[in-house]
Amino acid sequence: MRKILAVSYVPWKYRHGESSEKLRTALAEKFQAKAFLFASGRESLLALLKAIRLKAGEEVIIQGYTCVVLPNAIHAAGGVPIYADIDEQTLNLTPASVEACITPRTRAVICQHTFGIPSDTKALREICDRYKILLIEDCAHILPSPLPAGRQANPLSRVERGDVSAQTNSSQEIGKLGDVILLSFGRDKAISGIAGGGIVVRNASLAREVELLEKTASDVSLREIIALLEYGPRMRCIVRPLIALGLHRPILKILNGLGLFAPILTERERKGCASPLLRKIPNACAFLTLHSLSRLKAINDHRRDLTTFYLDYGLRHGWPLLSGVQDHLPMQKFPLFVSNASHVRAELRRQNIHLDDGWTGCVICPDTVEPHDAGYEEKMDPVAEKACLQILSLPTHPTMTMMQAQKLTRLIDDFFKQQLPQARRPAAESK
Ligand SMILES: Cc1ncc(COP(=O)(O)O)c(C=O)c1O
Repeated sequence: MRKILAVSYVPWKYRHGESSEKLRTALAEKFQAKAFLFASGRESLLALLKAIRLKAGEEVIIQGYTCVVLPNAIHAAGGVPIYADIDEQTLNLTPASVEACITPRTRAVICQHTFGIPSDTKALREICDRYKILLIEDCAHILPSPLPAGRQANPLSRVERGDVSAQTNSSQEIGKLGDVILLSFGRDKAISGIAGGGIVVRNASLAREVELLEKTASDVSLREIIALLEYGPRMRCIVRPLIALGLHRPILKILNGLGLFAPILTERERKGCASPLLRKIPNACAFLTLHSLSRLKAINDHRRDLTTFYLDYGLRHGWPLLSGVQDHLPMQKFPLFVSNASHVRAELRRQNIHLDDGWTGCVICPDTVEPHDAGYEEKMDPVAEKACLQILSLPTHPTMTMMQAQKLTRLIDDFFKQQLPQARRPAAESK
């Protein structure tokens, strides 16, 4: 908040300034490769697909249970998103389903590290090498940082499934094997600058192509930057108090119409359309992202502490945990499987606890998106279709306190025990 105020006082640096270059250098050092910055993760992906000269009809493999901006960027580049199946316990692509989707038209695979659960990048790397296609690691939900002393790098999952796949990858492997790393600095991402995104490119000739696109990208309007900087205060002071009264949607519409609110998704994006234009990251967002990146270890340690707390509590109380979630992971959110998740969320909403994060009840998120517009048809990924209905995600964001987490877990456990005993759905039953 203090950082947002600090940047608000220097409007002449909203668009251009030294922060963008500093952020680029910091990311290049972190990943030991060239880094490029755009106004969002979705535009960064579009820039990459333009740079590889994706031709009309060429395919990019993504997973079911993803954000609509990914298929939108693929469509905007002229390509076709192909949905591969996910594993129910990791919510990530399975290597076998990826391989089954590969055709002569496949150019790339995007693996997502959903909510911070590491994808099986070793197996995907091997497949991509064999078929000579690009592996893009989407690190919007997790950016690795060194593990705190005493934490194991790759422990076996503590949630028993009785099979070897219960051992998921370590967060330390994230960002190491992809040809390209996709980054988002959006509002609820691993690190946040309110908006912004980037790509880290390991191939020198591809990096030159992206560099050209970055140079010719346009600026975000000053009005939009101001709306971004005002996003937090406007949400807290105007929109949130109206949620309980059910008036927040019309107010959001009015604020949007007046250009006073920077929505995470535009109406057109919800309908499956992405702009083909590329824009530079605003310097103000780069400034905030740099600050967030400098605090990455503290942010991740906080997320790890909350993950460990939820995991311990869940194990002690027989909660339906996912075996992909391990306590060394700085989870972006902590998913559980609950048979009537939407009912639990509605009950919690009555107590002013909002667990609606846009990643529930939909394979292409959020649920206001028509999946067909994103190239998804029913039954393309039955595992994702089932999982997304049963997901209840607990927050791990930097402002979530341990006391709030304790209160939340007690409330949820009460639901499980008293009001909604049928809601508890052990992970083992879900297979
Ligand atoms: C998994 C994932 N990757 C990439 C993006 C794109 O991020 P951005 O909002 O910066 O365009 C999102 C956005 O929600 C996302 O959820």
